[in-house]
Amino acid sequence: MKKALILMFCWINLCVSANHCIIPEPVSYNEFKGKLISNGFQFQDNSNLKKIEYAKTLFNEYLTSIKISDEGETKIKLNLNNSIKNKEGYILEVNSMGILIEAIDFGGFHNALQTLKQLLPVSSENNLFEIPHCKIIDEPRFEWRGLMLDVSRHFFTVEEVKDYINKMSEFKFNKFHWHLTDDEGWRIEIKSLPKLTEIGAWRGERNGRFGENRPAPTESEPKTYGGFYTQEEVKEIIAFADKRNITIVPEIDVPGHSMALLAAYPELSTKKEITQVSVGHKFAEWFGDGSFKMHTENMLNPTDEKVYEILEKIYSEVGKLFPGEYIHMGGDECYKGYWKESDEVKNFMMKNNMKDMHDLQAYFINRVQHIIESNGKKMIGWDEITEGQLNKDAAVMSWQGMKGGIKAAKLGHKVVMSPTTFAYLDYIQGDQSVENSIYASLSLEKSYKFEPVPDSVNPKYIMGGQANLWTEVIPTLSFAYYMTYPRALSISETLWSPKETKNWDNFSHKILVHFNRFSKQETNISKAVLDPIVTVYKSGEKLMCRLENNIPGTEIYYSIDNTYPVEYGIKYTVPFEIPKGDLSLRTQTFLNNQGVGRALQIHREELLKRL
Ligand code: ACM
Repeated sequence: MKKALILMFCWINLCVSANHCIIPEPVSYNEFKGKLISNGFQFQDNSNLKKIEYAKTLFNEYLTSIKISDEGETKIKLNLNNSIKNKEGYILEVNSMGILIEAIDFGGFHNALQTLKQLLPVSSENNLFEIPHCKIIDEPRFEWRGLMLDVSRHFFTVEEVKDYINKMSEFKFNKFHWHLTDDEGWRIEIKSLPKLTEIGAWRGERNGRFGENRPAPTESEPKTYGGFYTQEEVKEIIAFADKRNITIVPEIDVPGHSMALLAAYPELSTKKEITQVSVGHKFAEWFGDGSFKMHTENMLNPTDEKVYEILEKIYSEVGKLFPGEYIHMGGDECYKGYWKESDEVKNFMMKNNMKDMHDLQAYFINRVQHIIESNGKKMIGWDEITEGQLNKDAAVMSWQGMKGGIKAAKLGHKVVMSPTTFAYLDYIQGDQSVENSIYASLSLEKSYKFEPVPDSVNPKYIMGGQANLWTEVIPTLSFAYYMTYPRALSISETLWSPKETKNWDNFSHKILVHFNRFSKQETNISKAVLDPIVTVYKSGEKLMCRLENNIPGTEIYYSIDNTYPVEYGIKYTVPFEIPKGDLSLRTQTFLNNQGVGRALQIHREELLKRL
């Protein structure tokens, strides 16, 4: 393994000397002859921006962590430059005089310092270090570069949320979408509705996978799993994010996904039955085509004025807390079965000339939009909000592929593209034999193919994109990082860099350098991209296997006779037959004869199931 790491470093050094390893790729990077030799930095700040102190302090803290002096001789000059139009853009120049950063606002200086961090060695041990002379001119492609964290299915502490935000800011994300409420927990204090957190934030303790193996909750069991953020904690996290050029978009998901709210206020559903906060047990049937049936009512009654009174209280407190432009109202996966059965709903629809459930849902969405806007904010929701008549000023986050976003953009709505197909970080990223299984997969390479602006829409409607981390199978921050990175890096490059500068081969080399940086910071991220990709198919009666790896320069070895190590097995060149028998495919990726990915072992029975 040690030898493999040394090899990996040689490979990385090749990358460094051939080019830079900055993620996301800058708009332009020009390297010149010569290197700046430094013993550390000191700021010379001519910007007169109040917030700049934060960026400087954070940069100095980073220097300390990698053992570079913040009292060295190399000057980092910060100058305002009025010709830079994009508030998040910057120019960064490294020459024998030192470092010059120009920007027009805090965001630009923040982003420039993230780039500078990536030009530094992973650690200098207080020695001299070098930076190539270069000039970088850079600005983002999109105004919305987001990551979403679901804190309902699993709760993450204040410190963990901050850590997650801090990490994403290093890759120039600027929106943290905080999924604060769902069936499995209500996570934000609403002072006028204390029951939301007294009851809604807590559920019965269960272990292991969400789904049918988890016993349903009972009224009498102790509710010990959960937690919530007090408003003081929320303010602390908002301030923390702001220092990192990140705006928080809070999500209060209604009218569906509301079991935690209904556990506190059961009178707000149509059946008004006492319910419990979901423990992650099976409470819905999915039919494979996106349609589903809820065994428990988890949606609000859209015909009840009390619902809007409570939503007014919630969104007004949320609106006062969060300084950002948008509040996310969810709107996804609202099962209509209980609405259809309810006499109260039927009467209401008749009285108001509503012909179908889309009309009723649109009525609800419009009422919520009115509440959000009367609290001084704009509304954004998942793409189901376009199913009925939607008011123009609402923005749409497209998750069911790109089609919801395309439809919304054509109707003149602002759109954030966040499709499952490219941006769902809860999907497994490597072979299912070595991952924490979930119903779908998304490789790093596929996520790199994300293009937020479809040909058929006017780009002015696309605000940007976002990747989402749902946490049903993610109980810890460490595993959240494993699932988020490196795919978030490919999303960051897609959302920041000009389309023409994106290049998989280049990116896949840069990723290897970042593996090293993450590992120096002791952050657990996935290296699944180094593993072989196993595909099985039938050719006549034969079970055939294809092996691939997307990192250039690697070789794949395998065995199908239960022998190991596979390094002394067969080098993969063309698809081969998996013969009948009690046997496993073993396979691993190699670079210069050293294993770099995980060794996979998959029994023939398992391979058959994948057909
Ligand atoms: C979603 O994944 N239900 C937005």
